[in-house]
Amino acid sequence: IPVDPFDLVIFGGTGDLARRKILPGLYRRFRDGQMPEGVSIVGAARSEFDDDGYRAFVAEALAEFLPKAKLEPKAVKGFLDLLGYIAVDATGKDGWAELAGRMRKGVVQAFYFSVGPSLFGALAERLHKHKIAGADARIVVEKPFGHDLESAKALNATLAKHFHETQIYRIDHYLGKETVQNLMAVRFGNMLFEPLWKNQYIDHVQITVAETVGVGGRGAYYDKSGAMRDMVQNHLMQLLCLIAMEPPSKFDPDAVRDEKLKVIRALKPVEHEHIVRGQYRAGDGTPSYVEDAENPDSLTESFIAMKVHLANWRWNGTPFYLRTGKRMKARHSEIVVRFKEPPHSIFEEDTGQSANELRIRLQPNEGMDLTVTIKEPGPGGMRLIDVPLDMTFADALGEEASDVPDAYERLIMDVIRGNQTLFMRGDEVEAAWAWTDPIIGEWTEREDRPLRYDAGSTGPEEALILMHRDGRRWRELS
Ligand code: BG6
Repeated sequence: IPVDPFDLVIFGGTGDLARRKILPGLYRRFRDGQMPEGVSIVGAARSEFDDDGYRAFVAEALAEFLPKAKLEPKAVKGFLDLLGYIAVDATGKDGWAELAGRMRKGVVQAFYFSVGPSLFGALAERLHKHKIAGADARIVVEKPFGHDLESAKALNATLAKHFHETQIYRIDHYLGKETVQNLMAVRFGNMLFEPLWKNQYIDHVQITVAETVGVGGRGAYYDKSGAMRDMVQNHLMQLLCLIAMEPPSKFDPDAVRDEKLKVIRALKPVEHEHIVRGQYRAGDGTPSYVEDAENPDSLTESFIAMKVHLANWRWNGTPFYLRTGKRMKARHSEIVVRFKEPPHSIFEEDTGQSANELRIRLQPNEGMDLTVTIKEPGPGGMRLIDVPLDMTFADALGEEASDVPDAYERLIMDVIRGNQTLFMRGDEVEAAWAWTDPIIGEWTEREDRPLRYDAGSTGPEEALILMHRDGRRWRELS
């Protein structure tokens, strides 16, 4: 369904995120007929381009980041025709009057701050001062949303000077992933899971986001963040929220975010012994973390595994194990919900029966499966085997599923539609930092050294031990 006509301004329109994600995503939405007549997309950055120069720049980005088969010449031309460019000085005077002149009345206005958070305040102020943003305008801000609680509060306060909370869209692109949304559909659209969705029946939950890439190229940013700030405080936290939250009364932005906020506030402080921090060594032809970060003394973690508990009725006693890392064995992200074993087995002991597992795979092969125990077919007696009930989209939906929209394109369309459900509210981000800060604070105080792990591995051995100690184990990365 096409969205309403809109003016979208992308500050940082020549940056990496714009080239890789925002512009290719917008092109795909255009190609699929989701943009009506009268859409205008303006790149705004410091570089001196004219409209045509920017179109050529964007054409190159599309060619670089989209598969050839998706680049239909007619669609590409149609999309490029929507684009314009204005050189704007975020902290100065240049370009603002011209930008004001380009904005139209009577269409949705959105401003994407695809720039570092230090510029959020300057941009918000100038949009206001030059009367560029109307009362219903939306602003989209990228992570990192602050560095700790204090800076996040300051950012929220700065934005709040010029924009109402309902106008602010804080992106966590994990919420735009197809499977992540499907998780909500599965939990709240079926009767099957909800009665079992609690400590009484769920043994534990594992959330893994493993990446094969290192931090080369963005070491300067990453070395000040580490896996805790870069991934756990936001992406893994959001996944945890969707698994653990109570059913909201409706699928509406505040109802959903109220429930997520309660989860974050229920997180217990994490004991130091329940956290494993790692840093990758050099691999076969790949540099070590400290080389990538260009900081030989770095104490920043590129891997983290932790055991987390929630202090509420539903989850008391059920651990959530989180792990994420760079330069690991495989790009593999999934959530595993492991149910308890039946209280008493009526079958022979050696039958290999194990507990049910619901696996929600984010990448690769987005989809879900549920392992169930059945009888091995054949005359061999009552032998039990575990088989997956596969809900992989590619199998269930065929062709359609191979073209699953990227998280960013879905989220940008939500901004235009004015739907904040999949965006973080200010209090949510602050609550997440309030939980994260003491953990990081303790490492700093102890001068905690991350453990080294081999590139291409599953992280430090201690991460495996973290689960072994509890008689559990991580699912294999494959
Ligand atoms: C970003 C992090 O937010 O998410 C990166 O800053 C990380 O370090 C990326 O690589 C992972 O996103 P995805 O969608 O590739 O899993």
